[in-house]
This record gives sequence, C-alpha cells and structure tokens, in this order.
Amino acid sequence: MTEPHFLEVKHLAKRFGTDHGELTVFDDVSFGLDKGEFVCIIGHSGCGKSTILNVLAGLDSPSGGEVYMAGKEVRGPSLERGVVFQNYSLLPWRSALSNVEFGVRARFPGWSKSQVREHSLQYLHMVGLKDGAEHRKPAALSGGMRQRVSIARAFATQPQLLLLDEPFGALDALTRGTIQDELLKICTETHQTVFMITHDVDEAILLADRILLMTNGPFARVAESVKVSIERPRDRTTIVHDPGYYPIRTHLVDFLVSRSRELSERDDAVRDAGHSREARAQALAPVDVDPAAEARARAAGEAPPEALRTLHSTPAAAPLKAVNGR
Ligand SMILES: Nc1ncnc2c1ncn2[C@@H]1O[C@H](COP(=O)(O)OP(=O)(O)O)[C@@H](O)[C@H]1O
Ligand SMILES: [Mg+2]
Repeated sequence: MTEPHFLEVKHLAKRFGTDHGELTVFDDVSFGLDKGEFVCIIGHSGCGKSTILNVLAGLDSPSGGEVYMAGKEVRGPSLERGVVFQNYSLLPWRSALSNVEFGVRARFPGWSKSQVREHSLQYLHMVGLKDGAEHRKPAALSGGMRQRVSIARAFATQPQLLLLDEPFGALDALTRGTIQDELLKICTETHQTVFMITHDVDEAILLADRILLMTNGPFARVAESVKVSIERPRDRTTIVHDPGYYPIRTHLVDFLVSRSRELSERDDAVRDAGHSREARAQALAPVDVDPAAEARARAAGEAPPEALRTLHSTPAAAPLKAVNGR
C-alpha cells in the first residue's frame, strides 16, 4: 500500500442543479500533495479550479468525494488552511500591519502584543513592505502592495496548507514578476505547502514542484501531473535557459491548446463505452509526466523513463495514446 499524502483529494465531485438540468462540473477529481510541496493547477476557465480550492479550504462542500489533510477529513474552514484570493480581501479600515496582526493574533492567541507585532513585521518585510508602507490603509496602497499584504498575512499565520487562487491575476507583468520572486523566496525559507491556481504557464514552471492539468468541463478531471524537474533555487531570469524549461512549457501549452479538449472528448467516449468500473477508473486516472526527464533521455539517446513506457503501453491508455500522438 502506498503512504497517504499530507493532503488527499479523493473522487471529488461537484454538481449543480440548473434550469437545463444537472451540471456536473467535475465528478472524479483525485490527487495528493506532500508536505512542503508547491503544486499549481492549470485548466481552462470554468473547469472547476476555484471550486476545488474552495472545497480544500472548507468554504464549499463537494457533491461527492472527500478531502483529508494530515489524516483528518476537511469539513469547514480552519486556521490550518490559509487562502489568498485575487481580490485581496483586506479589512479596509485597518493598516497593512494591523491586517497582518489580525490574522496572527487569531492564529496564536497566546502571543504577547510585541510578539505579534514583531512576527507580522517580519513577514511584511519579507514581501518588501517597509519604510512606512506597513502603516498605510489598503486604499492608500497600490494593487501590488495590497496583494503583498494578503500574502504576508497568509504566510504569517503559518497554516499547514496555503491555498492561492490566481493571486497575481489582476497585477501588471512587472509587479507580478517581483511578487513571484518574493513568493519564491518566502517558500524557500518556510517550506510552506502550497496549492495554487494560475493561468500563467511560466509562473507555474517558476514556482511549482508539480503542475496538475485539468481537462475542460463538464466532467472535468485532473488528467496529468507534470513534474517540474528543474533544480532549485530557481531564478526568473535564468530559468528559461534550463534545458528542461521548454520541454515542460511546450507540454503545458500543448495541453491547453489541444489536449484538454481532445481528452474531454475522449473521456465522453470512455464514459459512454460501458466499460467496467475498474477499466473506466484506469482510463480516467491522472498520469504522471516528466517532460524535462523525457527530453534529457531523448537527447542522450535513451529510452523514455519507465513510467512513460508503462503509461503508453497499457490497454486502457490506448485511446490516450492516439490523442497524444505518441
Ligand atoms: N451556483 C452555481 N450554479 C451553477 N453553476 C455554477 C455555480 N457556481 C459555479 N458554477 C459553475 O461551475 C463551474 C466551475 O467554476 P469555477 O470553479 O469558478 O471554475 P474556474 O475557477 O476553473 O474558472 C463553472 O462552469 C461555473 O459556471
Ligand atoms: Mg477560478
């Protein structure tokens, strides 16, 4: 038996009743996260990423399936799970520092006032907020600064799991780049376990250990788990020169451009084919991919890694083979 992951997402489903009947956004999403892992999830708009994140946060409940964190079922929100959304969600009447302190006090109720202050300032400084900016209210801060406060607050509460829903989606490219660097630094220092939604493939490669790829909805699922085998520490300006970078990037872009749709069509066929439960589960299970290792093996004239050989030779994966064109 395999060891359970720190976070276990099992057969998660979400269905909505609509005027046109039942809408199944996703109906069998399963994946795991290890402690200290940084995992990004990518998929087209509407496939259900935010819904999954909200279920992990305990802010939404699934129509089926379960989520376990450190062996305990997730039911309802907890300070052990921090969330950062795109729209900052800061308290407008409090200063940046006071917003962070508010979270820290809730998380560590036994701490003294000065302990809370020192800890909060440390995290604000880590995201580059200093020289008076920490005493300004959100309205007097730029969008980038506000998002820095949200990030500082989330990290300062040291949750067991940090959930980020497109946190940089609303920021200009330059600001986004700077905050990505800060996030990278803070993750390196804290070994925080992170689950992050992004639509930016370069951001995902820079930050993640692994990238989950979701097919289009309805009946979306996590189709692939793509390993980012690029060494750390990583640097935004030099990472593109890593020989693994473009194989990974091309793999992700191909997924978004064509495989996500092709796999959705194939999934419909698999569901309609009247397979046994096991065969169906096997055909719809996520596959592990390591494009950088694959590229290295190809360059060295070696056979692809074992996992890929197995993947492309199992009968249940035959339709996938045709789709992937391998
Ligand atoms: N209350 C609701 N009723 C019906 N459909 C909903 C409701 N809430 C969300 N959805 C649908 O669920 C799907 C997934 O939404 P979401 O998780 O926000 O996607 P993503 O974050 O991937 O863009 C969308 O297609 C959306 O239209
Ligand atoms: Mg979303």
